[in-house]
Amino acid sequence: MLKVLELFGGIGACSNALKRLNIPFEIVDYVEIDKYTVKSFNAIYGTNFEPQDITTWDKDIEVDLIMHGSPCQDFSLAGKQAGGDEGSGTRSSLMYETLRIVEKLRPKYVVWENVKNVLSEKHRHNFDNYLAKMECLGYTNYYQVLNAKDYGIPQNRERVFTVSILGNESFEFPPKQELKLKLKDMLEDEVDEKYYLSDEITNRIKYKFNNENDILGGMQEHQSIKKDGICTTLTSSMGTGGGYVPMVSRKYGIFDTEKSTHQAGSVYDDNGLSPTLDTMQGGWRQPCIENNLKIRKLTPKECWRLMGFDDEDFEKAEQVNSDTQLYKQAGNSIVVNVLVEIFKNLFDKEGEIK
Ligand SMILES: C[S@@+](CC[C@H](N)C(=O)[O-])C[C@H]1O[C@@H](n2cnc3c(N)ncnc32)[C@H](O)[C@@H]1O
Repeated sequence: MLKVLELFGGIGACSNALKRLNIPFEIVDYVEIDKYTVKSFNAIYGTNFEPQDITTWDKDIEVDLIMHGSPCQDFSLAGKQAGGDEGSGTRSSLMYETLRIVEKLRPKYVVWENVKNVLSEKHRHNFDNYLAKMECLGYTNYYQVLNAKDYGIPQNRERVFTVSILGNESFEFPPKQELKLKLKDMLEDEVDEKYYLSDEITNRIKYKFNNENDILGGMQEHQSIKKDGICTTLTSSMGTGGGYVPMVSRKYGIFDTEKSTHQAGSVYDDNGLSPTLDTMQGGWRQPCIENNLKIRKLTPKECWRLMGFDDEDFEKAEQVNSDTQLYKQAGNSIVVNVLVEIFKNLFDKEGEIK
Protein backbone atom coordinates (compact mmCIF):
# COMPACT_ATOMS: atom_id res chain seq x y z
CA MET A 1 0.00 0.00 0.00
CA LEU A 2 1.53 3.28 -1.15
CA LYS A 3 1.43 5.94 1.57
CA VAL A 4 0.75 9.27 -0.11
CA LEU A 5 1.18 12.78 1.24
CA GLU A 6 -0.56 15.34 -0.96
CA LEU A 7 0.99 18.78 -0.40
CA PHE A 8 -0.86 21.76 -1.92
CA GLY A 9 -3.29 18.96 -2.63
CA GLY A 10 -5.99 20.87 -4.52
CA ILE A 11 -8.54 18.50 -6.00
CA GLY A 12 -6.11 15.64 -5.80
CA ALA A 13 -4.91 14.94 -9.33
CA CYS A 14 -2.36 12.60 -7.74
CA SER A 15 -4.91 10.53 -5.84
CA ASN A 16 -7.08 10.51 -8.93
CA ALA A 17 -4.30 9.11 -11.10
CA LEU A 18 -3.45 6.40 -8.55
CA LYS A 19 -7.12 5.47 -8.32
CA ARG A 20 -7.37 5.21 -12.08
CA LEU A 21 -4.35 2.91 -12.16
CA ASN A 22 -5.81 0.71 -9.42
CA ILE A 23 -2.67 1.14 -7.37
CA PRO A 24 -3.45 0.46 -3.71
CA PHE A 25 -2.76 3.69 -1.84
CA GLU A 26 -3.60 5.52 1.33
CA ILE A 27 -3.70 9.31 1.64
CA VAL A 28 -1.83 9.67 4.91
CA ASP A 29 -2.35 13.41 4.88
CA TYR A 30 -3.56 16.18 2.62
CA VAL A 31 -2.24 19.70 3.08
CA GLU A 32 -4.37 22.38 1.44
CA ILE A 33 -5.17 25.77 2.91
CA ASP A 34 -8.23 26.70 0.88
CA LYS A 35 -11.44 25.60 2.59
CA TYR A 36 -13.46 25.38 -0.61
CA THR A 37 -10.86 23.22 -2.29
CA VAL A 38 -10.75 20.96 0.77
CA LYS A 39 -14.53 20.55 0.48
CA SER A 40 -14.21 19.36 -3.11
CA PHE A 41 -11.40 16.97 -2.21
CA ASN A 42 -13.37 15.42 0.65
CA ALA A 43 -16.43 15.05 -1.54
CA ILE A 44 -14.47 13.30 -4.30
CA TYR A 45 -12.32 10.95 -2.22
CA GLY A 46 -14.68 10.37 0.72
CA THR A 47 -12.17 11.83 3.18
CA ASN A 48 -12.63 14.22 6.05
CA PHE A 49 -9.62 16.52 5.95
CA GLU A 50 -9.52 20.01 7.40
CA PRO A 51 -7.67 22.92 5.78
CA GLN A 52 -4.01 23.02 6.78
CA ASP A 53 -1.25 25.54 6.22
CA ILE A 54 1.99 24.02 4.99
CA THR A 55 4.09 26.64 6.76
CA THR A 56 3.05 25.22 10.13
CA TRP A 57 2.63 21.59 9.08
CA ASP A 58 5.13 19.44 10.92
CA LYS A 59 3.90 15.91 11.43
CA ASP A 60 6.08 12.89 11.93
CA ILE A 61 4.46 10.30 9.68
CA GLU A 62 5.57 7.50 7.40
CA VAL A 63 5.27 8.44 3.73
CA ASP A 64 6.26 6.75 0.43
CA LEU A 65 5.21 9.44 -2.05
CA ILE A 66 5.02 13.19 -1.71
CA MET A 67 3.18 14.92 -4.52
CA HIS A 68 3.38 18.69 -4.64
CA GLY A 69 2.07 21.07 -7.23
CA SER A 70 3.29 24.08 -5.33
CA PRO A 71 1.76 27.48 -6.13
CA CYS A 72 3.02 28.74 -9.47
CA GLN A 73 1.56 32.26 -9.73
CA ASP A 74 4.85 34.02 -9.05
CA PHE A 75 6.74 31.95 -11.64
CA SER A 76 3.97 32.09 -14.18
CA LEU A 77 4.19 34.25 -17.29
CA ALA A 78 0.60 35.26 -16.63
CA GLY A 79 1.53 36.69 -13.21
CA LYS A 80 3.77 39.50 -11.99
CA GLN A 81 6.74 37.15 -11.73
CA ALA A 82 7.63 38.01 -8.14
CA GLY A 83 9.50 34.70 -8.12
CA GLY A 84 9.92 32.07 -5.46
CA ASP A 85 13.14 32.86 -3.63
CA GLU A 86 13.46 31.22 -0.24
CA GLY A 87 12.24 33.55 2.48
CA SER A 88 10.67 35.97 -0.02
CA GLY A 89 7.21 35.28 1.32
CA THR A 90 5.77 34.74 -2.16
CA ARG A 91 3.32 31.91 -2.72
CA SER A 92 5.76 30.22 -5.07
CA SER A 93 8.47 30.21 -2.41
CA LEU A 94 6.30 27.67 -0.58
CA MET A 95 8.13 25.00 -2.59
CA TYR A 96 10.87 25.39 0.03
CA GLU A 97 8.38 24.14 2.62
CA THR A 98 8.24 20.91 0.65
CA LEU A 99 12.01 20.59 0.90
CA ARG A 100 11.76 21.00 4.67
CA ILE A 101 9.17 18.24 4.80
CA VAL A 102 11.10 15.95 2.44
CA GLU A 103 14.19 16.35 4.60
CA LYS A 104 12.24 15.25 7.64
CA LEU A 105 10.16 12.42 6.17
CA ARG A 106 12.47 11.05 3.46
CA PRO A 107 9.81 9.47 1.23
CA LYS A 108 10.95 7.15 -1.53
CA TYR A 109 9.40 9.33 -4.24
CA VAL A 110 8.76 13.04 -4.64
CA VAL A 111 6.88 14.35 -7.65
CA TRP A 112 6.73 18.11 -8.29
CA GLU A 113 4.66 19.87 -10.92
CA ASN A 114 5.01 23.51 -11.86
CA VAL A 115 4.73 25.96 -14.75
CA LYS A 116 7.28 25.75 -17.52
CA ASN A 117 8.41 29.28 -16.77
CA VAL A 118 10.20 28.05 -13.66
CA LEU A 119 12.90 26.96 -16.14
CA SER A 120 13.28 30.49 -17.53
CA GLU A 121 16.40 32.52 -16.90
CA LYS A 122 14.63 34.62 -14.28
CA HIS A 123 13.47 31.72 -12.12
CA ARG A 124 15.84 28.92 -13.00
CA HIS A 125 17.96 29.40 -9.86
CA ASN A 126 15.01 28.29 -7.72
CA PHE A 127 14.52 25.21 -9.85
CA ASP A 128 18.23 24.41 -9.68
CA ASN A 129 18.23 24.98 -5.92
CA TYR A 130 15.43 22.48 -5.60
CA LEU A 131 17.29 19.86 -7.62
CA ALA A 132 20.54 20.48 -5.73
CA LYS A 133 18.84 20.21 -2.35
CA MET A 134 17.09 17.02 -3.37
CA GLU A 135 20.37 15.58 -4.58
CA CYS A 136 22.00 16.44 -1.24
CA LEU A 137 19.18 14.54 0.46
CA GLY A 138 20.06 11.45 -1.60
CA TYR A 139 17.54 11.69 -4.44
CA THR A 140 18.09 11.15 -8.14
CA ASN A 141 16.13 13.75 -10.11
CA TYR A 142 14.49 13.52 -13.51
CA TYR A 143 12.56 16.37 -15.07
CA GLN A 144 10.81 17.10 -18.31
CA VAL A 145 8.28 19.54 -19.75
CA LEU A 146 5.15 17.64 -20.72
CA ASN A 147 2.15 19.03 -22.57
CA ALA A 148 -1.31 17.65 -21.77
CA LYS A 149 -2.14 17.53 -25.49
CA ASP A 150 0.55 14.87 -25.89
CA TYR A 151 -1.17 12.66 -23.31
CA GLY A 152 -4.69 12.43 -24.63
CA ILE A 153 -6.29 15.67 -23.45
CA PRO A 154 -7.00 18.50 -25.94
CA GLN A 155 -5.58 21.27 -23.78
CA ASN A 156 -2.37 23.08 -24.53
CA ARG A 157 -0.89 22.90 -21.04
CA GLU A 158 2.86 22.70 -20.67
CA ARG A 159 4.13 21.89 -17.22
CA VAL A 160 7.48 20.81 -15.87
CA PHE A 161 7.36 17.54 -13.97
CA THR A 162 10.18 16.57 -11.63
CA VAL A 163 10.41 13.01 -10.40
CA SER A 164 12.86 12.41 -7.56
CA ILE A 165 13.67 8.92 -6.32
CA LEU A 166 15.60 8.18 -3.17
CA GLY A 167 18.70 6.26 -4.25
CA ASN A 168 19.86 5.58 -7.77
CA GLU A 169 16.87 4.06 -9.56
CA SER A 170 16.33 5.04 -13.15
CA PHE A 171 13.16 6.58 -14.54
CA GLU A 172 11.92 7.47 -18.00
CA PHE A 173 9.22 9.96 -18.85
CA PRO A 174 6.37 8.54 -20.90
CA PRO A 175 6.45 8.92 -24.69
CA LYS A 176 4.00 11.24 -26.44
CA GLN A 177 0.73 9.81 -27.63
CA GLU A 178 -1.37 10.65 -30.63
CA LEU A 179 -4.19 13.03 -29.65
CA LYS A 180 -7.51 11.44 -30.48
CA LEU A 181 -9.90 13.76 -28.62
CA LYS A 182 -10.74 17.23 -29.87
CA LEU A 183 -12.12 20.12 -27.89
CA LYS A 184 -15.56 19.43 -29.33
CA ASP A 185 -15.47 15.95 -27.75
CA MET A 186 -15.16 17.59 -24.34
CA LEU A 187 -18.23 19.81 -24.69
CA GLU A 188 -21.51 19.12 -22.94
CA ASP A 189 -24.53 18.49 -25.14
CA GLU A 190 -26.87 20.72 -23.23
CA VAL A 191 -25.69 23.80 -21.47
CA ASP A 192 -27.61 26.19 -19.25
CA GLU A 193 -28.38 29.57 -20.81
CA LYS A 194 -26.43 31.31 -18.06
CA TYR A 195 -23.16 30.30 -19.72
CA TYR A 196 -24.07 32.01 -23.00
CA LEU A 197 -23.07 35.55 -23.80
CA SER A 198 -25.96 37.94 -24.01
CA ASP A 199 -27.28 38.78 -27.47
CA GLU A 200 -25.90 42.27 -27.02
CA ILE A 201 -22.34 41.10 -26.47
CA THR A 202 -22.61 38.47 -29.18
CA ASN A 203 -23.83 41.10 -31.62
CA ARG A 204 -20.95 43.34 -30.68
CA ILE A 205 -18.52 40.53 -31.41
CA LYS A 206 -20.32 39.85 -34.67
CA TYR A 207 -20.14 43.50 -35.56
CA LYS A 208 -16.45 43.55 -34.83
CA PHE A 209 -15.92 40.44 -36.89
CA ASN A 210 -17.68 42.03 -39.81
CA ASN A 211 -16.70 45.63 -39.60
CA GLU A 212 -13.53 46.19 -37.71
CA ASN A 213 -10.06 45.01 -37.95
CA ASP A 214 -10.41 44.12 -34.36
CA ILE A 215 -12.06 41.85 -31.85
CA LEU A 216 -12.34 42.09 -28.11
CA GLY A 217 -9.84 44.78 -27.46
CA GLY A 218 -7.52 44.68 -30.42
CA MET A 219 -5.21 41.71 -30.32
CA GLN A 220 -4.92 41.36 -34.04
CA GLU A 221 -1.89 39.15 -34.06
CA HIS A 222 -3.90 36.56 -32.22
CA GLN A 223 -6.86 36.63 -34.54
CA SER A 224 -6.10 33.33 -36.06
CA ILE A 225 -8.20 30.26 -36.26
CA LYS A 226 -6.52 27.23 -34.89
CA LYS A 227 -7.59 24.03 -36.51
CA ASP A 228 -6.20 21.56 -34.06
CA GLY A 229 -9.22 21.53 -31.73
CA ILE A 230 -7.03 22.13 -28.67
CA CYS A 231 -8.09 24.37 -25.82
CA THR A 232 -5.85 27.10 -24.42
CA THR A 233 -4.35 26.65 -20.95
CA LEU A 234 -6.97 26.81 -18.23
CA THR A 235 -5.93 29.11 -15.41
CA SER A 236 -6.78 29.52 -11.75
CA SER A 237 -8.15 33.02 -12.40
CA MET A 238 -10.94 31.54 -14.49
CA GLY A 239 -14.29 32.42 -13.10
CA THR A 240 -13.10 35.32 -11.00
CA GLY A 241 -12.64 37.94 -13.69
CA GLY A 242 -15.77 37.31 -15.73
CA GLY A 243 -14.06 37.08 -19.07
CA TYR A 244 -11.28 34.74 -18.06
CA VAL A 245 -13.17 31.56 -18.79
CA PRO A 246 -12.49 30.52 -22.38
CA MET A 247 -15.51 31.11 -24.60
CA VAL A 248 -16.65 28.51 -27.03
CA SER A 249 -18.97 28.34 -30.01
CA ARG A 250 -20.02 24.87 -31.10
CA LYS A 251 -19.50 25.80 -34.68
CA TYR A 252 -16.44 28.00 -34.56
CA GLY A 253 -14.62 26.86 -31.48
CA ILE A 254 -13.04 28.96 -28.80
CA PHE A 255 -13.29 32.71 -28.47
CA ASP A 256 -10.70 33.32 -25.86
CA THR A 257 -11.39 36.52 -24.02
CA GLU A 258 -8.57 36.44 -21.52
CA LYS A 259 -7.77 40.04 -20.79
CA SER A 260 -4.07 39.79 -20.23
CA THR A 261 -1.11 39.50 -22.49
CA HIS A 262 -1.71 36.36 -24.39
CA GLN A 263 -4.24 34.80 -26.65
CA ALA A 264 -6.92 37.43 -26.11
CA GLY A 265 -9.43 37.43 -28.88
CA SER A 266 -8.22 34.21 -30.42
CA VAL A 267 -10.75 32.14 -32.22
CA TYR A 268 -10.20 28.44 -32.21
CA ASP A 269 -11.85 26.00 -34.43
CA ASP A 270 -13.11 23.11 -32.37
CA ASN A 271 -13.63 20.46 -34.98
CA GLY A 272 -10.43 20.50 -36.94
CA LEU A 273 -12.31 21.03 -40.19
CA SER A 274 -13.33 24.49 -41.42
CA PRO A 275 -12.17 24.16 -45.03
CA THR A 276 -13.53 27.57 -45.95
CA LEU A 277 -11.17 29.21 -43.56
CA ASP A 278 -8.06 27.87 -45.20
CA THR A 279 -7.82 30.65 -47.72
CA MET A 280 -8.98 33.49 -45.60
CA GLN A 281 -5.62 35.06 -44.73
CA GLY A 282 -6.68 38.21 -42.97
CA GLY A 283 -10.21 38.25 -44.27
CA TRP A 284 -11.49 35.32 -42.32
CA ARG A 285 -13.92 37.21 -40.21
CA GLN A 286 -16.83 37.16 -42.61
CA PRO A 287 -17.16 33.40 -42.88
CA CYS A 288 -17.14 33.25 -39.12
CA ILE A 289 -20.39 35.08 -38.99
CA GLU A 290 -23.69 33.42 -39.11
CA ASN A 291 -27.00 34.74 -38.00
CA ASN A 292 -27.40 32.42 -35.08
CA LEU A 293 -23.91 32.73 -33.70
CA LYS A 294 -24.00 31.56 -30.10
CA ILE A 295 -20.99 32.00 -27.89
CA ARG A 296 -20.66 30.73 -24.36
CA LYS A 297 -18.18 30.11 -21.63
CA LEU A 298 -16.78 26.67 -21.15
CA THR A 299 -18.74 25.20 -18.25
CA PRO A 300 -16.99 24.11 -15.05
CA LYS A 301 -17.68 20.49 -16.02
CA GLU A 302 -15.97 20.97 -19.37
CA CYS A 303 -12.99 22.55 -17.61
CA TRP A 304 -12.74 19.56 -15.26
CA ARG A 305 -12.93 17.23 -18.27
CA LEU A 306 -10.10 19.23 -19.83
CA MET A 307 -8.09 18.47 -16.67
CA GLY A 308 -8.76 14.75 -17.09
CA PHE A 309 -11.31 14.42 -14.28
CA ASP A 310 -14.32 12.12 -14.65
CA ASP A 311 -17.81 13.59 -14.63
CA GLU A 312 -18.55 11.51 -11.54
CA ASP A 313 -15.83 13.32 -9.59
CA PHE A 314 -16.94 16.68 -10.89
CA GLU A 315 -20.52 15.99 -9.88
CA LYS A 316 -19.44 15.27 -6.30
CA ALA A 317 -17.51 18.55 -6.13
CA GLU A 318 -20.39 20.40 -7.74
CA GLN A 319 -22.59 19.46 -4.79
CA VAL A 320 -20.40 21.42 -2.39
CA ASN A 321 -18.96 24.30 -4.40
CA SER A 322 -19.93 27.25 -6.59
CA ASP A 323 -18.95 27.68 -10.23
CA THR A 324 -16.35 30.26 -9.24
CA GLN A 325 -14.57 27.77 -7.01
CA LEU A 326 -14.95 24.90 -9.48
CA TYR A 327 -13.31 26.91 -12.28
CA LYS A 328 -10.46 27.93 -10.01
CA GLN A 329 -9.91 24.40 -8.78
CA ALA A 330 -9.73 23.10 -12.35
CA GLY A 331 -7.26 25.77 -13.43
CA ASN A 332 -5.06 25.03 -10.43
CA SER A 333 -4.93 21.30 -10.91
CA ILE A 334 -2.76 18.87 -12.88
CA VAL A 335 -4.05 17.00 -15.90
CA VAL A 336 -4.74 13.56 -14.46
CA ASN A 337 -3.84 11.72 -17.69
CA VAL A 338 -0.30 13.10 -17.57
CA LEU A 339 0.19 11.84 -14.02
CA VAL A 340 -1.30 8.48 -14.97
CA GLU A 341 1.38 8.04 -17.63
CA ILE A 342 4.16 9.16 -15.27
CA PHE A 343 2.97 6.82 -12.51
CA LYS A 344 2.75 3.91 -14.96
CA ASN A 345 6.49 4.30 -15.46
CA LEU A 346 7.21 4.83 -11.79
CA PHE A 347 5.13 2.20 -10.00
CA ASP A 348 4.01 -1.31 -10.65
CA LYS A 349 0.50 -2.39 -9.76
CA GLU A 350 1.35 -2.81 -6.08
CA GLY A 351 2.70 0.70 -5.83
CA GLU A 352 6.28 -0.53 -5.70
CA ILE A 353 9.04 0.98 -7.78
CA LYS A 354 9.49 -0.76 -11.12
C1 LIG B 1 -1.32 24.81 -8.07
S1 LIG B 1 -2.43 24.35 -6.83
C2 LIG B 1 -2.13 22.61 -6.68
C3 LIG B 1 -3.29 21.77 -7.12
C4 LIG B 1 -3.14 20.26 -6.98
N1 LIG B 1 -1.89 19.76 -7.46
C5 LIG B 1 -4.29 19.52 -7.64
O1 LIG B 1 -4.12 18.38 -8.03
O2 LIG B 1 -5.40 20.07 -7.77
C6 LIG B 1 -1.69 25.00 -5.39
C7 LIG B 1 -2.55 24.82 -4.15
O3 LIG B 1 -1.79 25.23 -3.01
C8 LIG B 1 -2.70 25.75 -2.06
N2 LIG B 1 -1.95 26.53 -1.08
C9 LIG B 1 -1.51 27.81 -1.21
N3 LIG B 1 -0.88 28.19 -0.09
C10 LIG B 1 -0.89 27.14 0.77
C11 LIG B 1 -0.40 26.94 2.10
N4 LIG B 1 0.24 27.90 2.76
N5 LIG B 1 -0.61 25.73 2.65
C12 LIG B 1 -1.26 24.74 1.99
N6 LIG B 1 -1.76 24.90 0.75
C13 LIG B 1 -1.57 26.08 0.14
C14 LIG B 1 -3.67 26.55 -2.89
O4 LIG B 1 -4.89 26.76 -2.23
C15 LIG B 1 -3.82 25.67 -4.14
O5 LIG B 1 -4.93 24.84 -4.06
